[in-house]
Amino acid sequence: MLIKNQQKLLEQLLGSINHEQKIWLAGYMQGQIGNVNTNISSSTFNLEKPPAVIYFATETGNAKGLSLQVMKAIRAAGYKVKTSAVNRLKVKDINPDTITIFIVSTHGEGDPPESALPFFEDIQNASDEQLSGLNYVVAGLGDSSYEIFCGAATKLDKELQRLGGKPFQAPLLFDVDYASHTSAWIEQTVKSTNDLVGASTSVAEEASSLSEEFVVRTGKGYTRLEPVKGIIKHIVNLNDIDSARQTFHIELEYEDDIIYTCGDAAGIMLPDEDNHGDNTPRLYSISSSPSYHEGEIHLTVALATYENEDGSIGYGTYSKYLAERQEGDEIEFYIHQNQSFNLASDDKDIIMIGPGTGIAPFRSFIYERSERGAGGRNWLFFGAQHMHCDFLYQTEWQEHLATETLNKIDLAFSRDQTHKVYVQDLLKEKAKDIVEWIDNGAILYLCGTRDPMSKDVDQALIDIITAQKSLSPEEAADFVADLEENDRYLKDVY
Ligand SMILES: Cc1cc2nc3c(=O)[nH]c(=O)nc-3n(C[C@H](O)[C@H](O)[C@H](O)COP(=O)(O)OP(=O)(O)OC[C@H]3O[C@@H](n4cnc5c(N)ncnc54)[C@H](O)[C@@H]3O)c2cc1C
Ligand SMILES: Cc1cc2nc3c(=O)[nH]c(=O)nc-3n(C[C@H](O)[C@H](O)[C@H](O)COP(=O)(O)O)c2cc1C
Repeated sequence: MLIKNQQKLLEQLLGSINHEQKIWLAGYMQGQIGNVNTNISSSTFNLEKPPAVIYFATETGNAKGLSLQVMKAIRAAGYKVKTSAVNRLKVKDINPDTITIFIVSTHGEGDPPESALPFFEDIQNASDEQLSGLNYVVAGLGDSSYEIFCGAATKLDKELQRLGGKPFQAPLLFDVDYASHTSAWIEQTVKSTNDLVGASTSVAEEASSLSEEFVVRTGKGYTRLEPVKGIIKHIVNLNDIDSARQTFHIELEYEDDIIYTCGDAAGIMLPDEDNHGDNTPRLYSISSSPSYHEGEIHLTVALATYENEDGSIGYGTYSKYLAERQEGDEIEFYIHQNQSFNLASDDKDIIMIGPGTGIAPFRSFIYERSERGAGGRNWLFFGAQHMHCDFLYQTEWQEHLATETLNKIDLAFSRDQTHKVYVQDLLKEKAKDIVEWIDNGAILYLCGTRDPMSKDVDQALIDIITAQKSLSPEEAADFVADLEENDRYLKDVY
């Protein structure tokens, strides 16, 4: 119908405009033609739905879990879609022709999750209008009991607008009860996405947004808004005389019908008369196994201390309260699901690095694996100051070794020799075996204090990969980041 020149011009035009402009053009053409029934529809033009991407920034897994739910719904609506952590994202890599959804949690004091800091720095340094034409949606996860509610999501939305991005749906800031509201938001997001590209939303698409796969439990026992009661069955200081530390093993019994999985934490709440006006719950990794220790939740709580200016010792509010509990006392708690620190399937080898209270989830992992008769091998790295007084759960690990539930253990007691030895030093000593396990598909887990421990372990892994695989440090860093992105290196650090 078109002559050659016209066809060329049309091809040039179509090649230079984005998907949204094509849709606008389709409407424009229809307007030009008027009321003539042309049967023009997006299928006549064979307009494929544009690709979509969901970026998440998470610390304890909620944003990741939600992004997987959104992905499922958007995919069911006919979009090619993927999810990705923002960890290595650069503004220059964001494609304005891709529908982009950000799900971002807030930590620290209104800050982005640690792993998202490089992305936030990059976006703050990007020039205005660098993302013009980008259609995006932002969702924030937070807790309104903190002073700066959803600070990271709010900051991101502001930056995206400065860069010329256009929100095609208002940002939504979810509070702790987010899981009760996500289905409606996902449904709305699918609709808004369809509206943006001029597609209609079918009933099936609406229904499919109610994902069953990634269950986020809601209601009683799962947020600080509806805690449950636990009774202390047993409490004991795991450190012996001579130790500079006090770490309490606390066993709670509960009656409510709550479910937790290995890797989850318990949120502990304090009565008003004990929290000195600080009513933000504290999280403690659960150190019991749901199968082995049925009806119980165990915690491994280090008493936090600091020195006052006058030299006297001060104590952390929540850990002190817990340390002073006695058998029979009641405690309010809820389960904080962690969807990015799950125990691997039974056939996988796992390497667990957990100095200090970082040991907690691994005690849970090992009991769970022993109960399940899991075939994968288990290797533990633990560290503390002194073997004789700080080896947390020593007899239990010895038993697990004897029964071969635990295959290998490496211990770093930093002050038992003239030079300091930490878990990262042991990792380097065992570099060859570590790489062999990784190449064989092992999953790495790291739990404990963020600074400096987790950073030192990250660096040790990069050094190990550099040396063992003859890579440059940058390539090794990419290798480790790949492991993290592919859920082969999971962290629960605080
Ligand atoms: C996902 C997750 C899992 C966790 N798992 C565990 C776990 O398994 N075991 C565990 O023990 N902890 C764990 N934590 C840490 C825990 O949640 C608390 O942060 C920790 O117990 C300190 O809380 P607190 O109320 O005792 O101290 P806070 O009162 O909150 O004080 C925080 C820190 O500041 C110091 N401090 C307080 N006031 C002052 C002051 N005036 N001057 C100087 N310093 C001061 C305290 O000594 C303490 O070190 C976890 C945290 C997260 C996020
Ligand atoms: C140590 C800590 C600090 C937090 N700080 C904030 C905060 O400053 N503002 C906020 O809105 N939420 C804060 N939260 C709540 C989290 O954002 C909320 O639990 C969210 O669902 C976590 O999502 P994630 O699992 O994807 O990291 C904090 C949570 C923790 C554990």
